[in-house]
Amino acid sequence: MIIAIDGPAASGKGTLARRIAAHYGLDYLDTGSLYRAVARDVMAAGDSVCDPERAVAAARNLDESTLDDPFLRERGVGEAASILARYEAVRHELLAYQRRFAGRPQGAVLDGRDIGTAICPGADAKLFITASVEERARRRYHELRAGGFDVTREGVREEIRNRDRRDQDRAASPLKMAEDARLLDTTDFDIETAFRAAVALIDEMTGR
Ligand code: CDP
Repeated sequence: MIIAIDGPAASGKGTLARRIAAHYGLDYLDTGSLYRAVARDVMAAGDSVCDPERAVAAARNLDESTLDDPFLRERGVGEAASILARYEAVRHELLAYQRRFAGRPQGAVLDGRDIGTAICPGADAKLFITASVEERARRRYHELRAGGFDVTREGVREEIRNRDRRDQDRAASPLKMAEDARLLDTTDFDIETAFRAAVALIDEMTGR
């Protein structure tokens, strides 16, 4: 079974996807970590994430054993990732790994922006997780504050708006709900309620 989970920044899809994977006994891949890791490697080499050639080279040489690096969740890395995620050639370099992961015999849950539309169009279940900008900004603000970052609510909201715009407006695999995906708006849901709603939708889609 393959479950595709997409949605905008800070929609809570990562937390949900991890719990969904544990619930169904599937492997989990946070595909955002691939783009974040490429951004990390480009920046570590002293190059610019706006340089498509450097970004493609970093994507080609990505060491997948470094995807759980805590630095990937640091402030600014998501922003940098979304800049190089616009390049079709970068996305192409990361495609094979994602498809191989999805093809694991035990099945998999993948979350990102283009899983239901481009990476796994034939997934058994597709969810599009969203929440209002205000609520997503509130969640990310608390996450960053807890991580010791000195951020303002207004600044975080602005960052999320910019990232949504960049992810939705790009030509290469933009953030978009697949036609056969089910929408889950978690604005008024806590994690437990969102999880139960997601499982109900997946069970319905897979005929369980
Ligand atoms: O956790 P959060 O929602 O903030 O971001 P993420 O899922 O880690 O993704 C970081 C950035 O990588 C996104 O803003 C996208 O630009 C890019 N990304 C993508 O283009 N395609 C994916 N399948 C996953 C992430």
